[in-house]
Amino acid sequence: MKGIVLAGGSGTRLYPITMGISKQLIPVYDKPMIFYPISVLMLAGIRDILIISTPDDLPGFRRLLGDGTRLGVHFSYAEQPRPEGLAQAFIIGREFIGDEDVCLVLGDNIFHGQGFTAMLERGVRNAAERNTATIFAYPVKDPHRFGVVTLDDDGMPLRIIEKPAEPESNFAVVGLYFYPNDVVDIAARVTPSARGELEITSVNHAYLEQKRLNVECFGRGFSWLDTGTVDSLMEASSYVEAIQKRQGFFIAALEEVAFRRGFITAAQLKKLAAPMLNCDYGDYLNNLANRCLKS
Ligand code: G1P
Repeated sequence: MKGIVLAGGSGTRLYPITMGISKQLIPVYDKPMIFYPISVLMLAGIRDILIISTPDDLPGFRRLLGDGTRLGVHFSYAEQPRPEGLAQAFIIGREFIGDEDVCLVLGDNIFHGQGFTAMLERGVRNAAERNTATIFAYPVKDPHRFGVVTLDDDGMPLRIIEKPAEPESNFAVVGLYFYPNDVVDIAARVTPSARGELEITSVNHAYLEQKRLNVECFGRGFSWLDTGTVDSLMEASSYVEAIQKRQGFFIAALEEVAFRRGFITAAQLKKLAAPMLNCDYGDYLNNLANRCLKS
């Protein structure tokens, strides 16, 4: 399975911060925002990752992430000149996807919670073994801001509506989607919505109509964090800080994820930590490497 991180958009709700830097490069506590969605793909076992962003912002992502070799993954890059909708990721990424299944994650979505990796693995398997798509629903107070899914009593999806004025449920569809390979054809047939975008909701609807859509619900113990406004960004940073300081485990430390998934060795992890020993992040990686090298 291939992975795509969509990190486009102009981030107008975060002006003036995002006048000089891509939204997905600004920090959420101690690391760039895009580390969080990339860690999701890596946790799903995905090693071939396409970063899509604006022509202005792509150089910043390249500088930060390089070709991925150091993490045992491969990053490629593609331009989305204008923000014309999430489904465009599959049109831009068609060649990259080739004949594989694909997972799309939005560059500003942050996930954290127990049991997440098993859910991700189900998404991968549903595409590979059942030729079905998997999306995730999360209860929110303000569903009208999102794609909203209505489920029947057995948890099967009935309807998905993008930003409904009067939501039928409080289940928002989060920015993480697993699809079989035919998503490239389905996305190619999507027409622009009233707001002029190729909506991911239209793609999900097509799978729903074909009875090929799984919806997994996150429980109340799971965190899906917003980074859309200055306030929600601050809250996300505080959340990451609180968890990391309390547990001593870092969220979305890509080098750690690469090591734990077996993409790199403990010796390689130690080398990656070496230039970062002046900060807690590097210290954390170095200690982890030392512990594993000893045992
Ligand atoms: C997009 C999707 C929406 C989804 C949301 C998750 O909204 O269109 O269905 O719930 O991402 O972050 P947008 O960010 O384009 O407003």
